[in-house]
Amino acid sequence: MDEQLHTIPHLHQVNRTLRNAMKAHASLVVWFTGFSGSGKSTLASSLEAYLYRNGYHTYVLDGDNVRKGLNKDLDFTDLARKENIRRIGEVANLMADAGLVVLTAFISPFRADRERVKCVVGAENFVEVFVDCPLEVCEQRDVKGLYAKARKGEISNFTGISSPFEVPENPDIHIRSGEEALEDSLQKLIAYIEPRLRLSSE
Ligand code: ADX
Repeated sequence: MDEQLHTIPHLHQVNRTLRNAMKAHASLVVWFTGFSGSGKSTLASSLEAYLYRNGYHTYVLDGDNVRKGLNKDLDFTDLARKENIRRIGEVANLMADAGLVVLTAFISPFRADRERVKCVVGAENFVEVFVDCPLEVCEQRDVKGLYAKARKGEISNFTGISSPFEVPENPDIHIRSGEEALEDSLQKLIAYIEPRLRLSSE
């Protein structure tokens, strides 16, 4: 039995178009994907700071934070990661509906899960950013000391070591964070994203 069969969404008076008009910018979901330690959160944070300074209403959803609250029941098995990304996709979609520019920083290692989010939020509202940093560099940096633990077998299903990462085939933005300077990556992001925040009536 489909439990959802008898739920009928209510069309509220205040909708996304009105909220966008109120804020004077479009909504967008900017989805950062890449290894742990590749720079997703740093980039999302820098981009958010820029957008905030320029009057955009933003919010960052970040793996390590969301996994302490909404998703604290999920571990790092393939199935749990899939559910992690499904929930974040739905939350990001709600936030976009609320009129926000949503920046997400999750490893999101599976192509199918990222594609599903793109479908949920709508391709025109979704920007995939591949934060491409060689595993060796992430491991060398090892900001959180997790790679060392994973190598010692203290953490299982660790992305890049004992769990896969499916490289985006056709990302909207490709950041080579192992070689590019942060400021250059940021400019690349701004150049792509800011025009997409203009309302079509402008
Ligand atoms: S995802 O694969 O489900 O998208 P998510 O981005 O939420 O992962 O969480 C990744 C963060 O959790 C990493 O940056 C790291 O700090 C931490 N972490 C803990 N265990 C693991 C693991 N087994 N694999 C990857 N990251 C892990």
